[in-house]
Amino acid sequence: MNRFFTLGALLIGLAGALVAAPAALAQPSPDFIARREAFIDQLMKRMTVQEKIGQLRLRSVEAGPHPDMAGFEKEISDGRVGGIFNTVTRPAIRVLQDAAMRSRLKIPLFFSFDVIHGQRTIFPVDLGVASSWDLDAIRTMGRISAIEASADGLNLTYSPMVDISRDPRWGRNSEGFGEDTYLTSKMGAALVKAYQGDDPSQPGHIMATVKHFALYGAVEGGRDYNTVDMSERRMFEDYFPPYKAAVDAGAAAVMIALNSVNGEPATSDKWLLQDVLRKQWGFKGITISDHGAILELIKHGVAADGQDAARKAILAGTDMSMSDTIYDTNLMPLLKSGKIRIADIDRACRDVLRVKYDLGLFKNPYRDIGAAADDPPDIYAESRLHRPEARKVADESLVLLTNRDHTLPLRKSGTIALVGPLADDQVDVMGNWAGAGRIYQTVSLRQGIENAAGGKVRVLYAKGANVTDDAAMVQYLNQYNPHDVQIDPRSEADMVKEAVDAARQADVIVAAVGEAQGMAHEASSRSDITIPPVQERLLKALKATGKPLVIVLMNGRPLALTWEARNADAMLETWFSGTEGGNAIADVLFGDVNPSGKLPMTFPRAVGQIPLYYNHLPTGRPFDPAHPDKYTSRYFDITNGPLFPFGYGLSYTTFSVSDVKLSAPVMKAGGTLHASVTVTNTGDRDGATVVQLYLNQPMASVSRPVKMLRGFSRIELKPGESRVVSFPITDDDLAFYNQQVKRVVEPGKINVYIGLDSDSVKATSFNRL
Ligand code: NOJ
Repeated sequence: MNRFFTLGALLIGLAGALVAAPAALAQPSPDFIARREAFIDQLMKRMTVQEKIGQLRLRSVEAGPHPDMAGFEKEISDGRVGGIFNTVTRPAIRVLQDAAMRSRLKIPLFFSFDVIHGQRTIFPVDLGVASSWDLDAIRTMGRISAIEASADGLNLTYSPMVDISRDPRWGRNSEGFGEDTYLTSKMGAALVKAYQGDDPSQPGHIMATVKHFALYGAVEGGRDYNTVDMSERRMFEDYFPPYKAAVDAGAAAVMIALNSVNGEPATSDKWLLQDVLRKQWGFKGITISDHGAILELIKHGVAADGQDAARKAILAGTDMSMSDTIYDTNLMPLLKSGKIRIADIDRACRDVLRVKYDLGLFKNPYRDIGAAADDPPDIYAESRLHRPEARKVADESLVLLTNRDHTLPLRKSGTIALVGPLADDQVDVMGNWAGAGRIYQTVSLRQGIENAAGGKVRVLYAKGANVTDDAAMVQYLNQYNPHDVQIDPRSEADMVKEAVDAARQADVIVAAVGEAQGMAHEASSRSDITIPPVQERLLKALKATGKPLVIVLMNGRPLALTWEARNADAMLETWFSGTEGGNAIADVLFGDVNPSGKLPMTFPRAVGQIPLYYNHLPTGRPFDPAHPDKYTSRYFDITNGPLFPFGYGLSYTTFSVSDVKLSAPVMKAGGTLHASVTVTNTGDRDGATVVQLYLNQPMASVSRPVKMLRGFSRIELKPGESRVVSFPITDDDLAFYNQQVKRVVEPGKINVYIGLDSDSVKATSFNRL
């Protein structure tokens, strides 16, 4: 065992330490800053222009063997590379750092990777972790990711993704924390602190990259890489705060979005990268382009050629170019022709060196790589995984959507028909961006059910359907990895018959349906967000048997589930739940764990309602279901409102929420007021729930959202137990951007809502003087 890993294991052992994330990333002392800047000054005096340009290059070196490894090493030893990504083992990383140590100035490389929801141990996708509404859960994922990634020699991850999305069609919803600004800000900041700790140069820590700056989740029509057009007020109010929260938490890097914003690609947007990010928010780290994004300025139609693209990007403030040679080839000629100044290169180079200094790489370039003799003999060894932590987080990420007549939990006796394309699957349950995870180490639902109840329950398994029968879709999903979607060659009729035969012999059907992980990924936008038709036909055939039908959903975005909600006896949203997914789902199915997850995104009834989000503005003609008048804001061909609202999720027990009490009827400017409720577990099981505080200002100089989340608290209660949950309310919770895009607090009436989802709430109000 290497020394970093030993330390990691020790940290994990201290359960308290795991969740006791620092309150704020320690601010470097003036003395530290002075020493760092002096060191960088000295170093930069010795660097040639080409070496400075080299620091701006982020090169992808995927797992070898590479025919041109000697070529890579030469580029590095020539001082033409600043950082590497996609190399994920210590022996492979060591070879590249050795090459850097052969360069003239021995400037160390940093090593980065998309550690998105775990490194070796895969946690639920981020949307799943967000469903826990538990900051300790996200901290656990962050700490373990950092410990495992640094044990593999990595220094920096391209996470968190805090792009707000109100569009389930966008495939990348699975990588973020949902539709809400407040929840996403809290989750993103907690994750940054968990990765970096107080001092990222310490063993077991990595640096964070907040992405994708900016507004990537607002691409028009939810189509990946599409454009974004948005008012400045909405940017500052709804979409920017999570990026800022991550910057305030100390994120070392910012990845720039691929999209344009109001006609200017983010990669060449000086206003975004300098005025907002650096001047307003005080960001001091590195800005990294997304994959090949600088060259894409040509296709965006704002650069004439590669050289022009490089000029625009560096002048805007894009420090590092990812996975191309565009800075390598073009910055020198641009400098020679006077189109850029050396100061432009120096500024970017300094940002990169500063991050390397903060990582402690100048002191020890091998800080996480260690000595070859200490390399783990088996990088996939079971002992390197953190299964109990992943299972606990997965348990909390599951959302019970419906449960008629106590269908769930299941008894550990009798016969279960386990059917569906995702029931015996180890690929999809891991979710996307799980590059260093191993399929064979992942617990399928079938295995989880057998682990939980194998001896006592008869499990009849039948696949029942392929995830899709659309050959073109399969070809698309398998374009880069031919094994992603495995198609059973049997006819649909044969597969359904086998499933129905199993169902007829069973007491209950558990059907695992939804999406393949590749359907909720980068470049995986969907125009139809229902369960693929071949799976729906299977569900209908199962329903026709008359046996109780439990639907276990695996998917990476909100789905339109109107038939399922009406016809299933119970429905459990499990997202893609990671290495321990099957065990966690079985925990909840059999009631060993009482579900407590809450939706971080609204589930619409149909794709035509999109965008549908809880914190919308009022209209002049609001729809009122009690008086459904014609000339109100509604669709006339569908029930209005969501199928499942934001913040919603059931439990096997029941909770009551008292009326809201305020500590005072008025709040002075700059004051604090407390709003509280008493929550009681009125059922007969231990259970956890999330108490949610929403505010609204019904009259202000601009329309304010009908509700906005401003606090949440996950509590656990025994049957009959009550707890008072109190939320402080300050001006910070009331502030908004006015027509002049100035952050203000205006006096007036404030409505206070507290409940267990965004829809069913108890209300009161106070006056902000
Ligand atoms: C492209 C993705 O947009 C980004 O999120 C990711 O971090 C980079 N590729 C690197 O893999």
